[in-house]
Amino acid sequence: MKYLRSICIIALLGCTLILSGCSQSERNRVPSKLIEYDAKINDIIKQLTLEEKIAMFHGKHMFTSAGIERLGISDLAYADGPFGIREELQPHSWNPLGLTTDSATFFPTGSALAATWSKELAYAYGKGLAKEARLRGKDMLLGPAINIQRIPTGGRTYEYLSEDPFLSAQLSVGYTQGAQDNGVAVCLKHYALNNQENNRGRVDVIVSPRTMREIYLPPFEAAVKEADAYGVMAAYNKVDGYWCSENDILLNQILRNEWGFKGLVISDWGGVHHTVEAALYGLDVEMPNDRFFGKALLDSVQAGVVPVSVIDDKVRNILRVRLAIEPVPEENANKIMTSQPEQSRIAYDVAVNAIVLLKNSQSLLPIDLNTYKKIAVIGGNALRTQATGGVGAGIKALYEVTPLQGLQAKVGNRAEIIFAQGYKEFNRWTGGRMGPGMSRPSPYTEADPQLLQEAVKVAKDADIVLFVAGNNREIETEGSDRTEITLPSGQDEVIKALAAANPNIVTVVVAGAPVDLNTVEANSSSIVVSWFNGTEGGNALADVLLGNISPSGKLPFTFPVKLEDSPAYALKNYPQTDAVGGDIFVELVENKNQKEAKKITPNRNTALYTEELLVGYRWFDTKGIAPLYSFGHGLSYTTFEYSGLQTGKEKYGSNKSIDVTFELKNTGEREADEVAQLYVHRIGATVEWPLKELKAFERVTLKGGESKTVTLTVPVSKLRYWDESKHQWALEHSEIELLVGSSSSDIRLTKKVSI
Ligand code: BGC
Repeated sequence: MKYLRSICIIALLGCTLILSGCSQSERNRVPSKLIEYDAKINDIIKQLTLEEKIAMFHGKHMFTSAGIERLGISDLAYADGPFGIREELQPHSWNPLGLTTDSATFFPTGSALAATWSKELAYAYGKGLAKEARLRGKDMLLGPAINIQRIPTGGRTYEYLSEDPFLSAQLSVGYTQGAQDNGVAVCLKHYALNNQENNRGRVDVIVSPRTMREIYLPPFEAAVKEADAYGVMAAYNKVDGYWCSENDILLNQILRNEWGFKGLVISDWGGVHHTVEAALYGLDVEMPNDRFFGKALLDSVQAGVVPVSVIDDKVRNILRVRLAIEPVPEENANKIMTSQPEQSRIAYDVAVNAIVLLKNSQSLLPIDLNTYKKIAVIGGNALRTQATGGVGAGIKALYEVTPLQGLQAKVGNRAEIIFAQGYKEFNRWTGGRMGPGMSRPSPYTEADPQLLQEAVKVAKDADIVLFVAGNNREIETEGSDRTEITLPSGQDEVIKALAAANPNIVTVVVAGAPVDLNTVEANSSSIVVSWFNGTEGGNALADVLLGNISPSGKLPFTFPVKLEDSPAYALKNYPQTDAVGGDIFVELVENKNQKEAKKITPNRNTALYTEELLVGYRWFDTKGIAPLYSFGHGLSYTTFEYSGLQTGKEKYGSNKSIDVTFELKNTGEREADEVAQLYVHRIGATVEWPLKELKAFERVTLKGGESKTVTLTVPVSKLRYWDESKHQWALEHSEIELLVGSSSSDIRLTKKVSI
């Protein structure tokens, strides 16, 4: 097999191209505040010994790296991240310290935040996190986590934002600004292309430059250029043959030289492989220990292999962040956090705006408590908290309102609520049977007959059934991907039995990633997705189900009919096996220091990204494969009418912006938000493009009957593509169609213009 890069397919003949060296978010670039400290830092560097410098380049404890005590420069304290401030761990282990002062607000996880499609809420989220980070004495938050959701089974899909780079970028910018405006540095993670958890510490991602630039890097690029992100975490994996923690192209050339990043690059925990390469090719701090950046680095400098100028650059990168973030005085850190009303409010606002109404065919929602007097709540997830579980960062939540508690509190004595477990909650340590070849139990079991029977009895006796289904944090977890997207614990069997017992079924899906909803769809009148929705998740869910608030979340990723429909699975790019025969020739990204064309024989450590730009809805649309629920989908309790699309002009120059104006009317009676979305389709382009791509969106609040004029703006520069032959952004003159609608598959207005 000869692996053809997209550039080979691109016909450059016969089209007009404008080349330009600047990238997508050039227009909004902010100058970095970090360079203000450089004069002072130069003075400090002069006073330091080589040993003192090197002591700053590695973990001192599990989540700190050293300052310079002699000069009164504090250590840097890091905190996981990304959806709340993690509990304190022992200095040199992953075990908790067992404090009583380290509880925190559990914010809705990444995919929930993304479902709000709101940069303002992302800002509030960053602000809320920063406030608590300060209360806990932290300088840098290990978040946002902004890798693109490439595979539906990805273990950290719930932490990440979206399958779409534009949506992810907008929210990354909001989150970063919110955190850094409130005194805490962010650390964008995991840079880059850490799109799977299985084998993440070995996998080599083979990706074309165009795909990398247009799909996987934009969230990082936008947070650096538009929000001056102070920190970046190098990912565990390799990209095009080189570890991310020693990747000259990613760290030195793109991040620093092109994007102008002035902050600090830390490794993922245990993600360093070599001393000299990591030192030369962009890493500043090794976490959490000194295996490569301790004595070994000192020796390398003394042997003249690593120049002192490289060492001084690292000191500068670290001190810039240290001086920009005011240290929290020790006496103020780790004060008991009891209630945090401001952060609870933010968590609630995000949660309630994240909930997605997938279906409401019989208008069972909102639940009319005058009609439905007896409500069956069925499913272990109604009782389950989701702040912790599985591997990786969890939150010792100050409190977490479960779906059942939220409903009980908001329904009060207006109706009777009866609960049944319905299915056995999966627990990786105690539950489930071992799957074939699996090292841990599988959540994909049959239903528990006794729990099923009890649930059917409760359902029969009720006026309406709320089936609280989905995954939990044991199933969606760092360190491993799911083996399938089936609902766990025999939930499909349970819902079939419930639907046979009672026609009024509302299914609530608790999950941070796509699940197979075919059976749920066939057996429920209404379906909502309520995510891993944080401290206030249960209250937010009850408010939506009872109609106190109209749902307004939109899916940040596609729900496929079946796993094999999704791109990496369809092309057998994932899961990787040893059986992928043949050689591929990869011309590695243009790289001054590590330039080499490689012949790669793919094996289980090689992740081929041959779906290229066709990630998520870009694939489904372009290939004409109908998903179960489309990217951007989300219904409301009211209806919206889109009309009167106008653009100022018919033709746009390369440095202009296209203002797309239309009327949005709430044609029902209830106040509600709608997220209007603008996609672009290229007509007659010679460059290959996905069928359509998201380029703008806005969340609009409308009272019943109210209309607003909405303007969505697309800078023409955002319509460029990465020209692999020229190594720069380029614009193709063509006609484009502007598509405005309520989801990627519900386009209401269109207009053609030329660029
Ligand atoms: C994760 C990071 C996390 C770090 C520290 C790693 O395993 O990939 O996201 O910040 O651990 O907990």
